[in-house]
Amino acid sequence: MFKQKVVELLAAVGFQHPLLEKPDLQFGDVAVPCFSLAKEWKKAPQQIAIEITEKLRSKQQAEPKQFKWLSEINSAGAYINFKYNQSLVANEVITTIRTQKKKYGYNQEGNNKTVMVEFSSPNTGKPMHLGHVRNNCLGRAVSNLLSASGYRVLRASLMNDRGAHMAKAMVAYQHWGERKTPASSGKKGDHFLGELYVKFKQEAEKNPILEEEAATMLRAWEAEDKKTIALWKKLLSWCVNGFNQTYKEMGIKFDVLYWESKLWKQGAELVDLGLQKGVMEKLEDGAITATLEQYSIPDKVVRRSDGTSLYITQDLYVAKSRFDERNLDRIVYVVACEQDLHFKQLFKILELMGFTWAKKCYHLSYGMVALPDGVMKSREGRVVDADDLMKEMQDLAKKEVSRRYPDISEEELTLRGRAIGLGALTFFMLRLDPVKELMYDPKASISFEGETGPYVQYSHARICSIFEKHEGKIPKIKKPELLTHQTETALVTLLTEYPAIVLASTKQYDIHTLCHYLLQLATETNAFYGSCQVLNVEANLRDARLALLDAVRIVLKNGLGLLGIEAPQRM
Ligand code: ARG
Repeated sequence: MFKQKVVELLAAVGFQHPLLEKPDLQFGDVAVPCFSLAKEWKKAPQQIAIEITEKLRSKQQAEPKQFKWLSEINSAGAYINFKYNQSLVANEVITTIRTQKKKYGYNQEGNNKTVMVEFSSPNTGKPMHLGHVRNNCLGRAVSNLLSASGYRVLRASLMNDRGAHMAKAMVAYQHWGERKTPASSGKKGDHFLGELYVKFKQEAEKNPILEEEAATMLRAWEAEDKKTIALWKKLLSWCVNGFNQTYKEMGIKFDVLYWESKLWKQGAELVDLGLQKGVMEKLEDGAITATLEQYSIPDKVVRRSDGTSLYITQDLYVAKSRFDERNLDRIVYVVACEQDLHFKQLFKILELMGFTWAKKCYHLSYGMVALPDGVMKSREGRVVDADDLMKEMQDLAKKEVSRRYPDISEEELTLRGRAIGLGALTFFMLRLDPVKELMYDPKASISFEGETGPYVQYSHARICSIFEKHEGKIPKIKKPELLTHQTETALVTLLTEYPAIVLASTKQYDIHTLCHYLLQLATETNAFYGSCQVLNVEANLRDARLALLDAVRIVLKNGLGLLGIEAPQRM
């Protein structure tokens, strides 16, 4: 918050574009290295640090008012260290947070430019699993962060709603569906289809004819056979209904949906263009491939010898149409690491074809998610279902809450169970660097201690309960200079850092940075309770501490909100 002032002061004594670093606590709040000036000033950086410090000090004697936000300026080796006036910082940050409330931490980096975040993109016919949960959590958090940084965000999903997987479910329905519907069998639509798909797999192992039936079904679909299309539409709408329930439960909404069934034939012109430009070439069997080998990327077939197009052909088309139709600054694709090569090839082909926007495509890749008792594998039917997992988490949370509050109403229990259960799941999915594989441990994730969502939520709820004990009164800060305890200054410093954390998490899609920040803020708040009383102290000190806690509460809630996690008042 005072960094800009440091920059201005240095400029006034002839030091332009300084680097600002964070020194060890005992040296101050900002450290500025002088190495960059050594050449120009023809002096040792140590000497420069001493000289600039002296210049600043004489400026301070001449215009003390301009310096009242600083308590110390010192040189140490090649560095100049600045220490802020803590009570001014405390007053400024607490007041800012309490005025801006929900908006504290927002910035204008995006300048209203539009970013599309494509995430989730499930295959219809199979319910969402654990991997989709990580995907959905990442996509939502990235979208929230981008919009807090001033971007217009379009949340998009590509529904892979046609192809072999749907044909198989359709064949299974004809054989064993017995005209049932999700409603008549009391099942969620996507689960209903998922079971058909698994049934197909099991039966096809015994009876290979079924694979042929599925191939015939797919051809009939492609030939737009009326009956086939009608059956497909029916099954598809069941599945989409099911997905929508899952999204509703997770609190996820999309602005744009893309349907493979409307796009799958597209991309032919792009292949022709690729041939013209020499980016693609015809193989002996008539198939067409993009030649990428000279870029150390394997070549990629974009049109089969029978003339049909592939997954990547559609993606070439979809990317182009998105940039053509909307004035996009960027597309972020949230897709698992199994498709790293696909996106490398996709982006390279687009670049070679001369589309300048190709460099605005970004693949946010993430590692697999496993459960402690075995890796998930959808083909063998050992899927960890997203809905089941969300339910299990809410049940676990409810159990914990009703243990603490045996008399709680059913309605309240459901609300809290939801906030805590889904909060635990979401935080666990986001707290690691996305590239890392993740082992989801339901019990550990819901613990009120450790690096968990509920730990951060609890920290927020505890502040709420202090205010409740204080009869809801939220005092003004009158004497910020009373906040001198080291745990108080540590909290104040953390609060000032929040906007930079939001910006950094947005720029590098490092959502885990925000998670770690929130854990640190929660831990520091606990340390504060360990050494400082809040309600049973002299009134001015009490009010200063309450104001500080109020600011912490706002930041905890804002940060959790960006992650897609609720902050209940009680737990
Ligand atoms: N539905 C695909 C899958 O589950 C992911 C689609 C990713 N998006 C894309 N534009 N290729 O594997």
